Amino acid sequence: MQQAVSTINEEKIHDFLGKVVTDFGASLSSVLGYMGIKLGIYKALADSSGLSSAELAGKTGLTERYIREWLLNQASGGYVEYDSATGRYSMTPEQNVALTDETSPFYVGGGFYVVKAMMHAQERISDSFMNGGGMLWGEHDPDLFVGTEKFFRPGYTAHLVNEWIPALTGIKEKLEKGVKVADIGCGHGASTVIMAQAFPNSEFHGFDYHQPSVDNAKKNAESANVSDRVHFDAAKSTEFPGDDYALVCFFDCLHDMGDPVGALEHARQTLADDGSVMIVEPMAGNNVEDNFNPVGRTFSAASTLCCTANAIAQGGEALGAVATEDALRNVAKDAGFSHFERCAETPFNRIFEARK
Ligand SMILES: C[S@@+](CC[C@H](N)C(=O)[O-])C[C@H]1O[C@@H](n2cnc3c(N)ncnc32)[C@H](O)[C@@H]1O
Repeated sequence: MQQAVSTINEEKIHDFLGKVVTDFGASLSSVLGYMGIKLGIYKALADSSGLSSAELAGKTGLTERYIREWLLNQASGGYVEYDSATGRYSMTPEQNVALTDETSPFYVGGGFYVVKAMMHAQERISDSFMNGGGMLWGEHDPDLFVGTEKFFRPGYTAHLVNEWIPALTGIKEKLEKGVKVADIGCGHGASTVIMAQAFPNSEFHGFDYHQPSVDNAKKNAESANVSDRVHFDAAKSTEFPGDDYALVCFFDCLHDMGDPVGALEHARQTLADDGSVMIVEPMAGNNVEDNFNPVGRTFSAASTLCCTANAIAQGGEALGAVATEDALRNVAKDAGFSHFERCAETPFNRIFEARK
């Protein structure tokens, strides 16, 4: 014991403890962020020029004592502002857009839903560490499905039509003329609907093996008035119907699949000869240490609690959310594609094109 203490560097241990306490605050505050969205507290505050806890409680119809505590936490995290002269809280335009505007590419609210849902999986995943089992997507807290849609949609809105599709070989022109597209592992269909709105001459087919997600995707297509050209059906990535697709997409889901080679092989069989497969995967490096940053930290945690567990539950080896480019290239090669390249990227995603 004495020996262990003497080897500890005082400054380093304080730095490390500071880091851990920061994470305690961040983890707990993330739950409060979820509540801020779900209970409409951010929206009420953003839609004001500044409110005391009593005024915010009055506006939201919530209990002042809880609101007072919540506000202090939020101000200490820099999510809202506090004016000590008036005792009022407010939000800057940046805090407002990131926490309340679901149509903005800067919206981050979905992340709180994902964190909340994934924390519920801890017990099952701990068991899986011991028994090698998995956990299917559909076995998670339903906020995972809502949160995933909310979290990914801003990135798709910002980049999919303007950057990712034009980066594929001749696909934008084909979509403008009118072709068939398949969106595999489509979840709530955010990407499918965004593409359908941008390319009214084309026909879109979203497939996911999780029936409740397919049902939600249908509702989303109806609300967006595109259900005449967008069809959603439950199907596994290795079995989805159709042929002659000009474009087959995998948005943030290939690494979740138990048989990614089988999924890409099936995509190749259903693809037109001059078609493209677009594979959107989380940003990750080619070396372990390239992922030692906030994005790599977040995706590897999500991978442990969800993506890897889903692939294992489907009987696969599991690529993981931080799969290297080399690993993904090998999957495409094993699936029979002769061409595979990274054609675009954002801080959060890598976009790959595979062709026959
Ligand atoms: C992280 S979510 C992404 C959802 C959607 N693509 C998006 O970007 O919002 C992964 C999706 O893959 C689906 N999925 C996982 N394994 C699948 C499989 N073998 N076949 C079809 N869908 C699958 C899940 O049900 C889930 O909806």
